[in-house]
Amino acid sequence: MIEKRISEIISNLSLEEKVGQLNLTGRSPVGGADVTITDMEQMLQMGKISQEEFDSALQDVTIDSQEDDVAAGKIGGFLGYIKPNIIRHLQQIAVEKSKSGIPLIMGLDVIHGLKTVFPIPLAESCSFDDELFEQTAAAAAKESWNIGIDWTYAPMIDIARDSRWGRIAEGAGQDTYLASRYAAAKVRGFQGDDLSKNGNIASCAKHYVAYGACEGGVDYDAVDMSLQKLWNVYMPPFKSAVEAGAVSVMTAFNDLNGIPCTANSYLLKDVLKTQFDFDGVIVSDSMSVEECVAHGYAVDRKDAAGKCIDAGLDMDMHSRCFIDHLCELVREGTISEEVIDEAVRRVLRLKFRLGLFDNPYRDINAVNDPVLAENNRKLAHRAARESIVLLKNNGVLPLLKKKKIAVVGSLADMPYQMIGTWAREDLAIKPVTLFEGINGRTECRYFLDVSEFEAQKENFDFVVVAVGENRAESGEAASRAYIGLSEEDKKLIEIVKQTGKKIITVLFNGRPLAIPEVVEASDAVIEAWHLGLEAGSAIADVIFGDYNPSGRLTVEFPNRSGQTPIYYNHLKTGKPARDFKFSARYQDTSYSPLFPFGYGLSYTEYKYSDLSVVVNEDNITVGVTVKNTGDMDGTEIVQLYIQDVVGSIVRPVKELKGYKRVELATNEEKRVEFIIKKSELCFYDNELNYVVESGEFKLWIGHDSTATLCSEFIL
Ligand code: GLC
Repeated sequence: MIEKRISEIISNLSLEEKVGQLNLTGRSPVGGADVTITDMEQMLQMGKISQEEFDSALQDVTIDSQEDDVAAGKIGGFLGYIKPNIIRHLQQIAVEKSKSGIPLIMGLDVIHGLKTVFPIPLAESCSFDDELFEQTAAAAAKESWNIGIDWTYAPMIDIARDSRWGRIAEGAGQDTYLASRYAAAKVRGFQGDDLSKNGNIASCAKHYVAYGACEGGVDYDAVDMSLQKLWNVYMPPFKSAVEAGAVSVMTAFNDLNGIPCTANSYLLKDVLKTQFDFDGVIVSDSMSVEECVAHGYAVDRKDAAGKCIDAGLDMDMHSRCFIDHLCELVREGTISEEVIDEAVRRVLRLKFRLGLFDNPYRDINAVNDPVLAENNRKLAHRAARESIVLLKNNGVLPLLKKKKIAVVGSLADMPYQMIGTWAREDLAIKPVTLFEGINGRTECRYFLDVSEFEAQKENFDFVVVAVGENRAESGEAASRAYIGLSEEDKKLIEIVKQTGKKIITVLFNGRPLAIPEVVEASDAVIEAWHLGLEAGSAIADVIFGDYNPSGRLTVEFPNRSGQTPIYYNHLKTGKPARDFKFSARYQDTSYSPLFPFGYGLSYTEYKYSDLSVVVNEDNITVGVTVKNTGDMDGTEIVQLYIQDVVGSIVRPVKELKGYKRVELATNEEKRVEFIIKKSELCFYDNELNYVVESGEFKLWIGHDSTATLCSEFIL
């Protein structure tokens, strides 16, 4: 039915109107600058430009919402609008004034929430909680739908092993298995079971592909790798997203093995549209069509437009190369009109799936739904609690509430600097700072100037020190060669250490940091990432024992900046790293990470026993008993790792193949079982055959990737 309606519409469109559907533009061009107003506001939000710089850049801008282009059918969609009345205004022009009456699609980066800001994806991934991944996406979708947004540019599912890359903050960490489960959960959350239902929005799996493998962790830089590494590490989360029903995919800025992803027909046509049978929309990243010229892959914008549409790209975000050149390319015979029609079909299919033809307008009175806001705030609180990872505790935590606490460190009282790289303005509530969270529980005082604290140190029992990165220091265009603490933060900890008070360090950061000196100096270290609106409340819950921390790291922490990339599931080598000079390691630092994948402390202890392994025709059943032997209820994240001992290509030393959140009261024990299908042990061999090979397999089960309880089986 939809396909028939699409064919009818296409048959009545002029070539210009067809190409207009492929044009996704920003909110409005900034006069005189080549940065869109959306980017300008994001840069302001992230502290990358001052208010003065922002105002001066816009002082002579002519705000143009491009109504005429909408009425002429030259625009298929916008990204960046968040004002419901303006969204409605533009949609009415498209539906009621343009000749074709085709509705616009309205996109926005809703990466970790809209009015309710949730923890950054890297933080949330540490919850290992698929149900939470789905719920926060669904919550963000409802808030977005209410203001007229149809399409989010999320989930970001780039595997990231290099902490120098600022965008490690935006994804689910370094593990392919976890990121694949995360991807599917997010797609389900954003899209629901019926995309046309109120409150559901289109997801967009990004950045396709291997963006996180940029050379040296330098954002936007070249990516070069074997196809078997691409398929074994970076491709599976996208396959998982498409299988979960993702209706769009965004191409990455980088090239892959010399061909820009945005113009890469192997990736777009052979893999995505053919092998994965993907029938949704492939959209470029911002300006990446035009950037094929800078890549040296296209001679000019017209050539870039032709190469990208011919490679299978459907929509051009921001660059206007499609709208400026595709008609000419068709008329001169360089591009066939069938290629255009196929892209238009996909865009219209997405708009039909969203129900936009039947229901293009939103009830903009539903924008501020107090019930939704409160439910989402509670969800944000839960998400923040589950994302926190306790990295060190020499017994100082949890604190008793009657203690007197000093709080130092600028990030402790900066509500908008620690909530996350994609947080926007117009939030439902003001974020809860660390200081506010603690101050609500006990006698507490915040010192912006640490010397004032020094002068009054006798009045306090403990010091909570907030250090790390503000939101502008992670995310896009935030690669760093040095990933230790700033000199200022190191000095702060040193001063506090000299007071002799017990130190509880709270890290606000969007990436793993090389912080051995912090760990050494602190009595406790809480990894609080950038946790969104409820950060301060959740951290206080952990400090005072109102929540037993359950988060586990999904990225490894290096000892030194130079010890990255570092990841647990690395390939075997002929000289495995060990306490021996001639082995795979650096001379000047440990060969182990500061904190390993899956690591995280609890206020209780868990004991594992009775490991069993049963192999049958189709799967391997692994069972273990887990007991809470401590004196606090908690949630353990039971992790299963498997090693393929010998393969036709060198295999990883181990790979995560299962995880489960298990709630255990004190002294309670449960039997936990994993059923691993043999197909889950497949890998892509050198000929890219997806195979599971017979032979010996080892397995470990436990608290993190260093678990020692092990067994083996033969296939
Ligand atoms: C940005 C990001 C991408 C985002 C897009 C639209 O440059 O790379 O993740 O979705 O532009 O804002």
